[in-house]
Amino acid sequence: MHQDVGQGCIVVLTGAGISKESGIDTFRDEDGLWSKFDLEEVATIEAWHRDKRKVLDFYNQGLTWFQGANIRPNAAHEALARLEREWPGEVLVVTQNIDLLHEGAGSKNVLHMHGQAGKIRCMVCETIIDSDMRLDVETLCPHCGARGQLRPHVVWFGEMPLRMDEIYAALDRCRLFMSVGTSGMVYPAAGFVQHVRQRVPRAHTVELNLEPSDGHSLFQERIYGPATEVVPAYIEKVLTGG
Ligand code: APR
Repeated sequence: MHQDVGQGCIVVLTGAGISKESGIDTFRDEDGLWSKFDLEEVATIEAWHRDKRKVLDFYNQGLTWFQGANIRPNAAHEALARLEREWPGEVLVVTQNIDLLHEGAGSKNVLHMHGQAGKIRCMVCETIIDSDMRLDVETLCPHCGARGQLRPHVVWFGEMPLRMDEIYAALDRCRLFMSVGTSGMVYPAAGFVQHVRQRVPRAHTVELNLEPSDGHSLFQERIYGPATEVVPAYIEKVLTGG
């Protein structure tokens, strides 16, 4: 890092790549989820209206991927939790992931822009419920009683990601923007780096990923390698002013 971040706000955008070494598949790598499932059929709002059963079956299967006995936070999640503990200023993790591995590692200031596992929501009364229950098309909403209207509390293609106002406000005051383990192919997250470059000229931007993402040229600094190696090393530099 070759810029003084002072004690300013750090925003870290994370994607599926940070959880890969914890045993959760990414979406767009060769062995990723979207090579095995058609996202149009399981992860769009249109799919939900067309064939709820198929969407819910995919989600129920997903629950087992996130909750496997061996799924644990890795050194990259732990390094970001350390950053939050030790950095004198604000640290916000904005994750596209629905897994809870940042929280598992000890991060407290985490914003799940694509929703999160362990919560479901009723399409009729909009109540959000903490639950890991498997859903089917007959399940009744415990709040309003609607049948077959409970869905995972995740953001599908065609829906607006969550808490965007808070995210843009944090980007506008950040001094360091880090992007970790994301292919940069899904907006609005993929546009955050451009937002920071245009609106916050003092901020430093860095990409940490296995390989160059779609928007890699927009980052002032780029570091490539497995998240469990490059993230702890980078955080060490940030914390020691290296
Ligand atoms: N360490 C670091 N990066 C890695 C690792 C690793 N061990 N393994 C893979 N990666 C990188 C890949 O090179 C790729 O660039 O992680 C990135 C994962 O990209 P995607 O699979 O596209 O995941 P993501 O960017 O999080 O997807 C965004 O797309 O389908 C939606 O809603 C879903 O939130 C998701 C969104």
